[in-house]
Amino acid sequence: MALSLFTKTKKVIIERAQDDYATKMRLKYKPYYHAMDSQQGTHIRLQGRDMIMLSSNDYLGLSFHPKVIEACGEGAKAWGSSTTGARISNGSRAYHVALEEKLAAFLGREACHVSVAGYVSCCSAVASFAQKGDLVLADKNIHSCLWDGIRLSMATAERFSHNNPEDLRQILKSVPHSTPKMLVVEGVYSMEGHIARLPELTQIGEDGGCFTVVDDAHGLGVLGRQGRGTVDHFKLNDKVDILCGSMSKSLASTGGFVSGSRELIDYLRTNSKQTLFSAAISPSQAAAASASLDIIQTEPQHLQRLWRNTKRYREMLKGLGLDTWGSETPAVPIVLGSKELVYRFWQALLEKGVFTVMSIAPAVPPGKDLIRTAVSALHSDEDLEKIAAAMEYAVKQM
Ligand SMILES: Cc1ncc(COP(=O)(O)O)c(C=O)c1O
Repeated sequence: MALSLFTKTKKVIIERAQDDYATKMRLKYKPYYHAMDSQQGTHIRLQGRDMIMLSSNDYLGLSFHPKVIEACGEGAKAWGSSTTGARISNGSRAYHVALEEKLAAFLGREACHVSVAGYVSCCSAVASFAQKGDLVLADKNIHSCLWDGIRLSMATAERFSHNNPEDLRQILKSVPHSTPKMLVVEGVYSMEGHIARLPELTQIGEDGGCFTVVDDAHGLGVLGRQGRGTVDHFKLNDKVDILCGSMSKSLASTGGFVSGSRELIDYLRTNSKQTLFSAAISPSQAAAASASLDIIQTEPQHLQRLWRNTKRYREMLKGLGLDTWGSETPAVPIVLGSKELVYRFWQALLEKGVFTVMSIAPAVPPGKDLIRTAVSALHSDEDLEKIAAAMEYAVKQM
C-alpha cells in the first residue's frame, strides 16, 4: 500500500515531463539545440550546409581572434583544465585574481569577483545583497537570472514597466522610507536591444534610497569608452552599486562577474551561496576573457566594425519594413507578433543559409514573438549581403 502510494506520487513528476506541451512542440518542430558540425567565425556548418550565424553574442568577433585562442591553450598548459572545485575550498589561482583586477580596473570599480557563468554571477549580484523584508524594484523585462536572484533573496519584488522611469517613480512614492530597497535593471536589454534609461532610473533610485544593480551582459564591449559598457557610456559609475555581467558575449569566453566596492565584493565572497559552493572558472576561460580585455583596449577596429555593421544591418531591416522594436544596439529583434509567423520566418532564413533563434511568449511579452538576431564585428560585407537577400526572401514568404 505504502509502496503503491510512493509509485503514484513519483509518477506525477514523470508524467509532468512526459506530457509537457512545450517539450512536445520543441521536439516536433526542432527549432533549438541544433548540433553544428563545425564553425569558423560567423560561418557554421549544419547538416552539411554552410550557414551564417546571426544569433550568437560574439559582438566583437573575438571568439576566433588568434590571441584569444592562443591564450586559451596557454592557460590550460600552465594550469591544467580545471580547478575542480570552489575557491573557498581549493583556493583561488593567480589568474583569477589577475583577471578580477584587470576587469575591475577596466570598469573603474574597486573590486570584482568572477564566476563560472554570467547566469550565476548576475543571480548572485541580487541574491547576495537583498534579503527578506527588502523591496526589489525590477524592470519587468530583466533576464531570468536576475529574477532567480530576486526569488532566492526572499525579498518582495515589484516590477515597473519596461525602461519606464516615471513608473518607477510612481511605485517608489508608495514605499515607506524605512524599507531597504534595491533597483535592478539591465544596461542593454538582451531581447529588445534597448539601452536602459540609466540617467533617469539611477537618479530616481538614488532619490528613493535604492541600492542599484545593473546587469550589463550586452553592454560590455559594445557601449562606452573602449566598450566599458552602459554605465560608462552615461558616466554613471558613482550611481551604480553593483555592476555585473557575462564574459560569454563580447569577451568571447564563458563566466560572469560582479563588480563594486571592495567592501561589497568581500561581503559577496562571504555570503553568496552561488560563489561559495560553485567551482571556479577554468584556466582557459579566464585566459580567454583576459586576452579579450587586452584586445578591446588595444584594437579599436573591432568596436568600430561592430557599429558599422549594426547600422548597415538595421537600415537594411528597416528598408524591408521589419519591426526591430526600436533596438539601439547590435542585439536586434525582428518582431513578428505570433509564433506561427516567427516559425515561418525563421524557417525561410534557415532555407537561405542564415541561422537565427526564435523567441516566443512567454519568453517575450504576448504579441512580441520575435526572431532574435545579433550582429558581430566579424560579419563580412558579403555576409551582410547574403543576410539581406535571405531577409528579403523571408519577408516574401509571410
Ligand atoms: C542580461 C543577461 N544577463 C546574464 C546572462 C547570463 O550570461 P551567461 O549566458 O554567460 O551565463 C545573459 C545571457 O544571455 C543575459 O542576457
